Amino acid sequence: STVPKFVTALKKPSVAKPKPHPDYPSNSYFEIVMKESLHRFHRDFPLTKIWGYDGLYPGPTIEARKDKTIYVKYVNRLPKKHFLPVDRSLHGVGDSPEVRSVVHVHGAHVDWESDGHPEAWYTQNYEYTGPKFRRKVHKYTNHQPAATLWYHDHTMAMTRLNVYAGLTGFYLIRDALEDRLNLPKGDYEYPLLIQDKSFNEDGSLFYPDRPPENAPFPIPAPFIPTIVPFFNGDFMVVNGKVWPYLDVEPRKYRFRILNGSNGSTYRIQLDNGAPFHLIGTDGGFLTAPVEVPSIDLMPAERVDVIVDFSKFKKENIKLINALLDETDPKRDIMLFRVIKPLKGEDTSEIPAKLAESMDLHEHHAQTVRKLPLSVGTDQYGRIMMMLDNKMFHEPCTEKPALDSIEIWEFINATPIPHPIHIHLIQFQILDRRPFNVDVYQNSNGEILEFTGDPEPPLDFEKGWKDTVRAPSGMVTRVIMHWKEHAGNYIWHCHLLEHEDHDMMRPIKVVDAVS
Ligand code: C2O
Ligand code: CU
Repeated sequence: STVPKFVTALKKPSVAKPKPHPDYPSNSYFEIVMKESLHRFHRDFPLTKIWGYDGLYPGPTIEARKDKTIYVKYVNRLPKKHFLPVDRSLHGVGDSPEVRSVVHVHGAHVDWESDGHPEAWYTQNYEYTGPKFRRKVHKYTNHQPAATLWYHDHTMAMTRLNVYAGLTGFYLIRDALEDRLNLPKGDYEYPLLIQDKSFNEDGSLFYPDRPPENAPFPIPAPFIPTIVPFFNGDFMVVNGKVWPYLDVEPRKYRFRILNGSNGSTYRIQLDNGAPFHLIGTDGGFLTAPVEVPSIDLMPAERVDVIVDFSKFKKENIKLINALLDETDPKRDIMLFRVIKPLKGEDTSEIPAKLAESMDLHEHHAQTVRKLPLSVGTDQYGRIMMMLDNKMFHEPCTEKPALDSIEIWEFINATPIPHPIHIHLIQFQILDRRPFNVDVYQNSNGEILEFTGDPEPPLDFEKGWKDTVRAPSGMVTRVIMHWKEHAGNYIWHCHLLEHEDHDMMRPIKVVDAVS
């Protein structure tokens, strides 16, 4: 492409402001309006139509404090027609209105009625609502440690389009531990939302309405528009800007990095070999920082890192995706230019200790669930990825008891990795172990024959996680504690094209006492 890189400045998303409301304590109520607006992706691009929270892409960052309840009303003022190709055949959506919305705070420990269940969607003025819609104002108790969460659209069968249109933002929880840590803050702290997008000649967003003609295998398209099995954009976009640059001082910065892409995986790395000092994962701080040369991020995974630019005065440092080779324009993600003068002494630290350890132990688990990931076909002959060999609307089978500890084993018998996300809880990764896929499939999932030893989680996966890479041909085991909230949640693949095509299952957390 001839689009010049690193000519558009990176921006920090704005912060959502509370609004006075007679029914809620002061500074606890927010209103965020979903609407269509025009957005500048690149210095040389015309304005592009997007859908954003408060008309912004990324949406305004919601800043919350641990244990301080906030209330958010996400008002739907989106147009009646979608501007991206809608496939009406999915998830039995049938004749429900085309533009529906519901917001999920990804990683939040929250009551199910405020979780943004995909069937809790609503249209403008709540004219139509989905079967699981319960409340207009979502309540977040923020009863969890400081963490980098994010909010995004989660509408049944529409998530890939609504998120792609721009409905994404950060939700940061801070706490007293973080206050004490003396990390880089203020101008030296940036959330970075990485997504990939494609554009039409006129600068409008492009999203396919049919599978690519050059796909590695034939993909049936029984009608148009039809959902595609995967999507990768042509341009790297960070905080809404195509291949941006950020001017920095020669000092430490904190970056909370989120892969918010529909389907692309990144191995983020700094091209001058500088390390990341990893301080947190999806669910919050690690017990101690780890120095890592690169970090793999599948869609929805986050890391909290410190980068020390002090030794790189006057240098230009690229953030790259090391999974791609030099000939691929998408290898570049953004550029840091270490050209600002140091404003003052950098007194921030990379603390030796972070959070207290709270490991979950295998021998405390009451239940072990074996959950295959498999390939199926839908009623139109289209390939469909499935969880537990079931479609979304089949009866719920994952019913953890409130206060129980469980181990979930994702047995990936498909040819590709999937980022598996479980709502409500944060888990820890126990291990991954290779198995013989042919034997497993030929025995209808009866025989699980391991072909190697279990592998521990990688350095950048050792903390609390809510999304885990489940590689092909491996059993990925995670452990979690179901606590405080009972009700209807979900788990799913976070490749949005899979999630929207049945790679999602209900969870019912059951309170045995009540
Ligand atoms: Cu980030 Cu169920 O979603
Ligand atoms: Cu998937």
